[in-house]
Amino acid sequence: MKDSTVIPEHVAIIMDGNGRWAKERNKPRSFGHKAGSDNLKKICKKADEMGVSYVTVYAFSTENWKRPKAEVDFLMNLLRQYLKDSIKKAKKDNMRIRVIGDRSILDEDIRTSIAELEDASKDATGLKLQIALNYGGRDELLRCMRLIAEEVTEGTLSPEAIDEACVANRLDTAGIPDPDLMIRTSGEMRLSNFLPWQLAYSEFYFSEKHWPDFKEEDFEAALKFYEGRKRRFGGVEA
Ligand code: FPP
Repeated sequence: MKDSTVIPEHVAIIMDGNGRWAKERNKPRSFGHKAGSDNLKKICKKADEMGVSYVTVYAFSTENWKRPKAEVDFLMNLLRQYLKDSIKKAKKDNMRIRVIGDRSILDEDIRTSIAELEDASKDATGLKLQIALNYGGRDELLRCMRLIAEEVTEGTLSPEAIDEACVANRLDTAGIPDPDLMIRTSGEMRLSNFLPWQLAYSEFYFSEKHWPDFKEEDFEAALKFYEGRKRRFGGVEA
């Protein structure tokens, strides 16, 4: 049974280390990304089983365009395949999928598939998965600031009315609660421009394992860590 005091409602994940995982096996980086994409499916299933309501993953950052063209192309094709599979399995998976980030510069067929998947999965009652694509936290905040500036210029919003809710409602994650827990794999302890506004009060869990090696039991360990933090500090917060 879900205990909402100790099970995080929303888990954000930086799926790092696909390249290193592949290198350790003398394989191309693309091999690691494919394994990473397969692992995402397993972790989403586990998260849903454990009673987590939202998972948000960093799949492609605004910085990732600087990678070699062959790697970017591979990642985009992997995404195409992921979207197509997810559209086909939308009913069975019962997972509501939403893409965050600036999708305007993605290829048209990808944008079409995203719209199709968001529509096909909109009534799902299981896990809500947010995939961050061409996402950068500063870019998201800039887009939000431009929206607010336009509304102020048009006279539909007064500067005094700009509060936290006003900002939150204009971010890509509008309507989604902030993550309670952020997991980053592969040993790096950085935020890398991932959800800087939304992660302001989240617990952080870092794993040395590369993302393709981060299994269901590791996800469970991250939730145990979160539970420990909540039990220690929950009383004060409550
Ligand atoms: C970081 O590993 C991972 C990425 C930049 C991409 C994450 C993508 C996936 C897990 C698969 C695609 C997801 C979907 C939804 C289709 P890295 O390449 O930075 O690894 P490294 O730090 O070891 O080099």
